[in-house]
Amino acid sequence: MTDKKKLGRNQKDTEDDMINLVDNLNREDDLKYNRRAFLKTAVGTSVALSVATIPFTVRAMLGIAEEDHERVEIAKLADLPEGESVTFYYPTEKDPALLIHTVNGDLKAYNSACTHLMCPVFYEKTQDVLLCPCHAGYFDVNNGQPKAGPPQRELPLIEIEVDNGIVYAVGRQYRHG
Ligand code: FES
Repeated sequence: MTDKKKLGRNQKDTEDDMINLVDNLNREDDLKYNRRAFLKTAVGTSVALSVATIPFTVRAMLGIAEEDHERVEIAKLADLPEGESVTFYYPTEKDPALLIHTVNGDLKAYNSACTHLMCPVFYEKTQDVLLCPCHAGYFDVNNGQPKAGPPQRELPLIEIEVDNGIVYAVGRQYRHG
């Protein structure tokens, strides 16, 4: 039998006992397991975040259209001769867009807020380009891709449909992640 006295119910432990308790821990193991747990959590979190963003990445890469936009009338084709453009708003009143009847006879439509700093772009028919006057940004009218100047991303494409001589906006595509 040890000469250590058994403590009563509400008696405090001695300091010696506390030192013995702490000495039972292996500090190396403790650090190792904490580090491992942290790494597992960090890796798990980043894998979860990557997996969660896959659908958005795939949509952006494939240029998949946003869903559930209504069909909105833009203009009568007869009112839009070649070389002219008209402003409309799509898919909401806060999204300015441009329908262009190019000098080559094609119909193209894009959201018209410049992808640099949001100035409105316009159709410059003599050069057959979309031009942003703020910092001389140029976009290809055939695909909305930046051609020159500061913009790095293409303009969102508005999908259109011509029905009985009327041009409608029917969807929008973001083609950049
Ligand atoms: S805002 Fe269009 S080029 Fe800067």
